[in-house]
Amino acid sequence: MRKIIIAGNWKMNKAFSEAEDFMVELTDFLNVKKLGKVEVVVCSPSPYLEMASDFASENRVFIGAQNVNENDFGAYTGEISASMLASMEIDYCIIGHSERRKYYHETDDLINSKLKKLQEFEVVPILCIGETLEEREKGITEQVILSQLTKTLTNIKINNDLVIAYEPVWAIGTGRTATPQQAQEIHFLIRKWISEKFSSEISNSISILYGGSMKPENIRELLHQPDIDGGLIGGASLDIEKFKAMINTAVEL
Ligand code: PGA
Repeated sequence: MRKIIIAGNWKMNKAFSEAEDFMVELTDFLNVKKLGKVEVVVCSPSPYLEMASDFASENRVFIGAQNVNENDFGAYTGEISASMLASMEIDYCIIGHSERRKYYHETDDLINSKLKKLQEFEVVPILCIGETLEEREKGITEQVILSQLTKTLTNIKINNDLVIAYEPVWAIGTGRTATPQQAQEIHFLIRKWISEKFSSEISNSISILYGGSMKPENIRELLHQPDIDGGLIGGASLDIEKFKAMINTAVEL
């Protein structure tokens, strides 16, 4: 049975006290909740990871980082290594997010190196892929997705230690969501590719999340699709009430 993952991606938001208040409210809520196969993840800014992971050890929320460096250690000012994340017992790390590809020029090759490092230190990668509006309008969405998968997963072995997030770039932070059918089409394509490249067992057990303006109003329909196993949620995850509402919907399905 695949996990349904509801993951908040706070990006570069919240003051420390706001982050702490959010974690208190979230864990109070989760303590009295039957989650079933739903897993809740908060991807916090790096300086708050330690605080957030203190909540994780007591409660049922998992913590993710938003970035990692591809090197082991050394003179890389401002960077964080996979071994550091592992030493803080961080469970997940987002890689390949379109904002990192766009603003920090991250390539599929670099993302592949980051993925290998995370696996080496047993931090589960949340690998983001997705097409731009221009690519969708040109009708090359499938090609783009398959190329990103092929390059980022070159020479990678996977068991259940990988989460994929399909995030159409045109839907991120724009309020414009892919229709459930548009998303399902690509999720199916991803699962089929994983099955061919790895095995059907792996493709059936891997969680593929949707990301891009997911919110309480549209999460139900998206999660109803057979190949959508949760969400990577930006804007709407900053608001504790919205985040709780989305967890409730996932649990009810
Ligand atoms: P959004 O962001 O929900 O604000 O569109 C999603 C993401 O970038 O992971």
